Amino acid sequence: VLKKITLAKRTCLPPDPIDEIFTQIPSINEKRLLDGLPEINNLSVGEPHLNINPAVLQDFIYSLNQRILNDQTSLIFNYSPLSGNPATLEAISALYKYYYPNLHYSSQEVMISNGATQGIWNALNILIDIDDEVLIFEPYYSTYDIQIKTLGGKLVKIPTQDNAFKPSGKLLNNAMSMHPNIKVLILNYPNNPTGIDLTKQEVAEIAEVLQRYPSVSIIIDDVYRELTYAEHFTVLDIDPLLKNRSIVVNSASKGLIGAPGIRAGMVGANAEWIKQMINIQAISVCSISCFTEQVLIAGIKHKLTPSSYYNNWIHESKQAYLTNKQYVSQKLIALGFRVIPGEHGFFILAASNVINHVVPDVILFQSEDGKAHIIKNLHQKLGTKMLHNDRYLAAYLLHVAGIAVVPGSAFGIDEYAGYLRFSCAKPFNDLKLAMSNVKIALQYLSTRNIDHVSI
Ligand SMILES: Cc1ncc(COP(=O)(O)O)c(C=O)c1O
Repeated sequence: VLKKITLAKRTCLPPDPIDEIFTQIPSINEKRLLDGLPEINNLSVGEPHLNINPAVLQDFIYSLNQRILNDQTSLIFNYSPLSGNPATLEAISALYKYYYPNLHYSSQEVMISNGATQGIWNALNILIDIDDEVLIFEPYYSTYDIQIKTLGGKLVKIPTQDNAFKPSGKLLNNAMSMHPNIKVLILNYPNNPTGIDLTKQEVAEIAEVLQRYPSVSIIIDDVYRELTYAEHFTVLDIDPLLKNRSIVVNSASKGLIGAPGIRAGMVGANAEWIKQMINIQAISVCSISCFTEQVLIAGIKHKLTPSSYYNNWIHESKQAYLTNKQYVSQKLIALGFRVIPGEHGFFILAASNVINHVVPDVILFQSEDGKAHIIKNLHQKLGTKMLHNDRYLAAYLLHVAGIAVVPGSAFGIDEYAGYLRFSCAKPFNDLKLAMSNVKIALQYLSTRNIDHVSI
């Protein structure tokens, strides 16, 4: 008799909402193509659409060629040291000196990780036990939630919606006094999904509260620091003594190199914590790929010795994100969305006013180019006749406008508030088409229950 094998309880945890959207796009696309509908325009994932700096690519290829020519292929194909090769650690240490000039991170105080995702996973693994509480300002990057839950920890959210999603020392102080057992605070500014960064004064207020709670450790997720348009500060700039209880995570995925596929993350912390994180990394991924290390070294070299190539590349990248964000923001405001004013990074968080609107079952979708498509069985596709929450709204835009966005509830925001996150790391024409299709899709919604309203 075959016995049913029960999987571990953590497999019952819901998947990361962003990954869930990302993974269902190919199958939805397949069905759309069969129905003669255009492909999904994916504004869900935060993935730079621009080419990486060509000088970094050249350096990477050159370094591989040199190893092949010098018969040093073992340096490419053998295991790397668990925390990274000495050259990698030296490069990360130099980058951290540049990012956090008041501090020194030695080679024993940094490591490479498989993206910032692994860096944050390493950090949470060494900091929390079952039932330990992790404090995070709303809204927060969805992966934190899943990682904390997988470790049996508890995410304690500090609501900020009434403060336009801005964190503050006062809110932190209130949360700390209400939850005296907090073990970790995660700070992510510029923030995913809002694009909000903090002023020096705001960071100083947060640092001041942290000084009064010496048993709280801090994870600083600084992955968007390169995509800012004003001076950027972390609590370490205000109080260097916080270094001893902080883990600072950076990434090559966003502004530094703009290459999420190479999976290069960086972690800085005190040497004892780095040792512990190396143990965690060793049992989950062993060491990091040599290719990843070489791209990261090349990227850091160009960051720290800026050439005209590098300057042009970073300038053009930031300009493109800014232009895209301004465009999408204006369009969404014109469509009745309330856009959160966060100028950094490449996301826009905006609340729609169509929550609880009624969805027709069939729509004759007429796009701007004059083409018409029939979209049938919407009630069945969405599992609803009414957009009760942000997930239904995102699903409606996916099936009708053909654009993928992430519902605000993925970031801990109240699902009934109707927030959506739009990634503007896309070619401008894709964004134009997306905005035009959102506009058309919203016209088919109504506050009254009329079937087949659009035909
Ligand atoms: C705030 C934040 N932290 C971490 C990550 C993970 O980055 P990586 O690609 O380096 O794993 C992301 C990716 O979107 C992010 O938005």
